[in-house]
Amino acid sequence: MAIERTLSIIKPDATRRNLTGKINAKFEAAGLRIVAQKRIHLTIAQAEAFYGVHKARPFFAGLVAFMTSGPVVAQVLEGEAAVTKNRDIMGATDPKKAAPGTIRAEFAEDIEANSVHGSDATDTAAQEISFFFSGIEIVG
Ligand code: CMP
Repeated sequence: MAIERTLSIIKPDATRRNLTGKINAKFEAAGLRIVAQKRIHLTIAQAEAFYGVHKARPFFAGLVAFMTSGPVVAQVLEGEAAVTKNRDIMGATDPKKAAPGTIRAEFAEDIEANSVHGSDATDTAAQEISFFFSGIEIVG
């Protein structure tokens, strides 16, 4: 299996409840390495740009409002099959459907305040990583 990198975001519902360490512990226990990390407060323009693919969806305005409601922690996770491994650790988007032990099953409040974001494929991972990080900020 190939070593990959994926973009993770710990969302405002999780930073508000001081869950960054507990979420990071799940990544590390599963063998993913946090090779870049920063805490930022997204502007509306930044959140709209990051989630541009969802612009036409009915939940877009709410998603942008939520993602700008408090700080987030953007991270690059590295490891074998990191994209799919991270999605397994996160669990389903809707926490009601997330498998026991996943981040969303344990911590998410609802489908919007679902604690974490993770890239859905290697090509989107590369785009999303470059949205938040320059090359010299990623230390493997
Ligand atoms: P995320 O992986 O960050 O990608 C898009 C986000 O939109 C998703 O997680 C959810 O938090 C949010 N969202 C809000 N409502 C919905 C919905 N009905 N279906 C899918 N995603 C939703």
